[in-house]
Amino acid sequence: MRPPVGSLVVRDIGLLVTNRPELGQGQLGVMRDVDVVIENGTVAWIGSTGTSQATDEVLEAAGRCVVPGFVDSHTHLVFAGDRVEEFTARMAGRRYDAGGIFATVAATRSASLIELTDVATRLKREAEAQGTTTLETKSGYGLTVSDESRCLEVAEAISEEVTFLGAHVVAPEFRGKEQEYVALVTGPMLDACAPKARWCDVFCERGAFGLDAAREILHAGLAHGLGLRVHANQLSRGPGVQLAVEMGAASADHCTHLDAADVDALAGSDTVATLLPGAEFCTRSPYPDARRLLEAGVSVALATDCNPGTSYTTSMPFVIALAVREMNMTPDEALFAATAGGARALRRDDIGALAPGFRGDLVVLDAPTAAHLAYRPGVDLVAAVVRAGRLLGQQNSR
Ligand code: NIG
Ligand code: FE
Repeated sequence: MRPPVGSLVVRDIGLLVTNRPELGQGQLGVMRDVDVVIENGTVAWIGSTGTSQATDEVLEAAGRCVVPGFVDSHTHLVFAGDRVEEFTARMAGRRYDAGGIFATVAATRSASLIELTDVATRLKREAEAQGTTTLETKSGYGLTVSDESRCLEVAEAISEEVTFLGAHVVAPEFRGKEQEYVALVTGPMLDACAPKARWCDVFCERGAFGLDAAREILHAGLAHGLGLRVHANQLSRGPGVQLAVEMGAASADHCTHLDAADVDALAGSDTVATLLPGAEFCTRSPYPDARRLLEAGVSVALATDCNPGTSYTTSMPFVIALAVREMNMTPDEALFAATAGGARALRRDDIGALAPGFRGDLVVLDAPTAAHLAYRPGVDLVAAVVRAGRLLGQQNSR
């Protein structure tokens, strides 16, 4: 029989993480000694090694571990310049405040579309090489109608999950005129930007947007047909998490400073708590209390928050290692949060797991278990990356 067009078998997988408990052992639904067949971009079959039908292509896992592709549900890849001096000053004791965002806004406004696209594309490739197969990215360093709009054009070119973050901070030329800036964001800026985005986000924080302004912006996003996400409770306790839950946001991101009412609100909702430990690492701040969230039954995702200010990393394996070592997550919990958790934070049911019907997104690890991602921190364990059945990475030898 001729193999189906566009078919790939990943052969001799020693340990497969499916994230579907009904398919295997534990929460991760672990299967042993299997092959996975992907047809036309979608997982078509999983079964014992050596029993699959013929396919166009073969990828040898050689007994290694295979996990679902990482879902990085929170990045800011559209920017120009870097802020290494700010990072260096922080490591010498200076505190982070959101003021550095203005330096990136200035650099982004003066960059060409080609320069912005080059940076974003390079970072996306960097993420892919480390196993990321779905990546959300945002505007937020333009803060004028035309700059936000072109940042979203760049985002659309590199990502399937695009977020409008015109409400990152009040644009510098609107200093002291917050209400006028909110009117710009909720009016002409959203009119121009909503067609290029799936999501609307707001940075709800002292120094950015307070409760009333953030609520107004989220309502406007919703009215423009966008789903909602909130940068919430990153630098201090505040109303962001409660607002995210009240508005039915898909995700409240950061969740670093929570009180009991915030945890309860998340636990009784469909809003995912997306934790971004790269930001705490890079700002030398206390990490979010992941255990408290997990024990309360909150859905948790892990993402990089890649941006030039607070977390200049594209590496989901690094984030997993931080979550395990610094936030007391088990390796299984961290892997689940970095894959199925991210999918949930993006309200996607076609990614984040490996089972028939899911997109064929997977990572072959140069390791026998997924726990090695935290056990061997800082070591490149990504041997091959497959996205929608297409090989992206280079296979390493064992
Ligand atoms: O998610 N919190 C707001 N935005 C970014 C940081 C932006 C910056 O410092 O450039 C974040 O951490
Ligand atoms: Fe962010």
